[in-house]
Amino acid sequence: MKICTLKEELVQDLSPYRLKKRTIGFVPTMGALHNGHLSLVKQSKSENDLTVVSIFVNPTQFNNAEDLTNYPRTEDADTQMLEKAGVDFLFMPSVTEMYASDGKSFDAEKSGKEEFSFGELETVMEGKFRPGHFKGVAQIVKRLFEVVNPHKAYFGEKDFQQLAVIRQLVKDYHLDVDIIACPTMRESSGLAMSSRNLRLTDDQRKDAAVISTALHWLKYSGRRYSLEEAIKHAATMIESSGNLKVEYLEIADSNSLQAIKNWSSSEDPRAFAAVQAGKVRLIDNVSLSPEED
Ligand code: PAJ
Repeated sequence: MKICTLKEELVQDLSPYRLKKRTIGFVPTMGALHNGHLSLVKQSKSENDLTVVSIFVNPTQFNNAEDLTNYPRTEDADTQMLEKAGVDFLFMPSVTEMYASDGKSFDAEKSGKEEFSFGELETVMEGKFRPGHFKGVAQIVKRLFEVVNPHKAYFGEKDFQQLAVIRQLVKDYHLDVDIIACPTMRESSGLAMSSRNLRLTDDQRKDAAVISTALHWLKYSGRRYSLEEAIKHAATMIESSGNLKVEYLEIADSNSLQAIKNWSSSEDPRAFAAVQAGKVRLIDNVSLSPEED
């Protein structure tokens, strides 16, 4: 596995493969890798000649300075994991390389995020509770796509709204890349794998399993109740230990991501939750269509 820290270096390293018409799969990450990330890598490897992974903790998508400082960084373990998984190129640029290589100093607030607009996708759920977050995600993903220029790029359904934003980005800018959605990987307890789980205490990790239990309860038993009652019941389940606080729990259409008013308003409903476990914010979502897991 070749590790590149400079954009130009990666562009040059990839160019002979491009000339030979080799297909390039790309998995962008922020590191602190787990089996969820590795499932994306595996899928990319099975569908492409070459796989490029990036690790970049993107400052412009954090709307909370403390969250950025506390974001787990496990570079050595990540590198080993990716090497073992058979990744061809690991791109690990600095903040300066991605945002200020023209010599200007970097300022996350003034970094030109405003050029992106995702309409209603940005006003609900993660967009509503993390203002500017998706503009920061779009800004870095667009820049990474420009460097890697992949045929296919892999994103997890764990961040379902992010996936929708990326699809919109590709459409708005006519980017020539296939966006591939990969299913959410879970711990045996059901807890969705996340880099942020590293910051949970053992007790919080045990308690947090109820998030997935509640979302799956909505899937299998929610329709026995009115939509409103079902959401209330699921939120109560999550908060029953006293250690978790629901920020939002919504049932929205999987395409529009707009909240639905009753069970019959969407053919493809999905339950979404953001939950605070101490200082750690966790998100998860589950399709409520019976045929999808
Ligand atoms: P990060 O949180 O590191 O996630 C990288 C990719 O892994 C995302 O596509 C995410 O949806 C996927 N992923 C995370 N947990 C997963 C799980 N349990 N199962 C399946 N896939 C999972 O998402 C980001 O980084 C950033 O916003 C990024 C797109 C890299 C832009 O900075």
